[in-house]
Amino acid sequence: MNRSLLASFGVVAVLLTGCDNGNQASTTTTTTDTVVVKIVPAALPDSAAFRDTTGAQATALYILKNGHAQAAVTNYGARLVSLIVPDKTGNPTDVVVGYDNINNYLHQPDTYFGAIVGRYGNRIAKGHFKLNGKQYTLATNDGPNTLHGGKKGFDAGIWTGKQLSDKSLQLFYLSTDGEEGYPGNLQVKVTYTLTDSNTLRVDYEATTDKATVLNITNHSYFNLNGQGSGTINDHVLQLNADAYTPVDSTLIPTGKIEPVAGTPFDFRQPTAIGARINDNNQQLKFGHGYDHNFVLNKSKDSLGLAAIVQGDKSGIVLTVRTDQPGVQFYGGNFMKGTNPIKAGKKDDYRSAFCLETQHYPDSPNEPSFPSTELKPGETFRSSTTFTFATK
Ligand code: GLA
Repeated sequence: MNRSLLASFGVVAVLLTGCDNGNQASTTTTTTDTVVVKIVPAALPDSAAFRDTTGAQATALYILKNGHAQAAVTNYGARLVSLIVPDKTGNPTDVVVGYDNINNYLHQPDTYFGAIVGRYGNRIAKGHFKLNGKQYTLATNDGPNTLHGGKKGFDAGIWTGKQLSDKSLQLFYLSTDGEEGYPGNLQVKVTYTLTDSNTLRVDYEATTDKATVLNITNHSYFNLNGQGSGTINDHVLQLNADAYTPVDSTLIPTGKIEPVAGTPFDFRQPTAIGARINDNNQQLKFGHGYDHNFVLNKSKDSLGLAAIVQGDKSGIVLTVRTDQPGVQFYGGNFMKGTNPIKAGKKDDYRSAFCLETQHYPDSPNEPSFPSTELKPGETFRSSTTFTFATK
């Protein structure tokens, strides 16, 4: 669907600002007092740009479609590359940050764009933990700590893809015994499903042959106004969390679970992400903004509400539901504008947010946090849904 706007104001700048939703290329033609702005709707990247056969396993791009929305996933890191949903005017909008070719995923500094992260999402203090009396040492890659699995986490592995239908894709990964220091051969299966109600559902399954720890999540960076369309600080966020886990200066939880009431971490009512981001608050300083695990309120539903976010310009509303006990809300504080993302954009500072449904960071070292142990003979199962609507 190609849309063109015809206006006779003769002020190109105003029209461009008003029409550019960030994920689209716009072209203009000017006559004396008429400006025509053609908006090219967001499109999926070219699959051919995701074929790489130089490594041991080939990479590819898989497409999911439901008639209103489309998603693209690569088997490199099981990453969600694109997710195109209609905005309030029906305009197709790509709401996740990503690259339009495999080379950038392989060679740009790792930002975890769209990836499945593991074996342990988020941080483990000093790269050490004890399980059943045995001490394990992991690769460290974030100052003194291990982040998102270590030097080569699941985000940098090549998964085996199996397209089940137009709407569903399964991806498999074997994380071998000792990989990055974790015990046990861990077989992981992730299923992405794009339902008819514009929900992207992510189902996780894992088994192990030795006791291990596991915290697996999706690390998509969302901008509901369209990826690359500027700050997310005006998006309105609601988190179903009365408490959060404060951190030390290296972003390791202190072990305390503290109420959000009276702090800039209180998103129980819909609040602009940036409304309190410059408050004089030690936790915001440690996180360089929001980069914290929220303790989700218990729910009677199997998939409890985690978050609702609204794009201030697009009217796109994202609702996140999960069976996990926490969600890491990361406000893009480490985005630097140096990576060339889709549609000729840059990954500008705080131009996307992540809602990583998960167990709490550093749980293997915090006996009071819910356990992340997986034993042989057990099957880990977990689901998260990302539902898109407009308002
Ligand atoms: C997570 C972490 C952040 C950062 C991002 C990726 O959200 O908590 O500190 O590492 O991933 O840049």
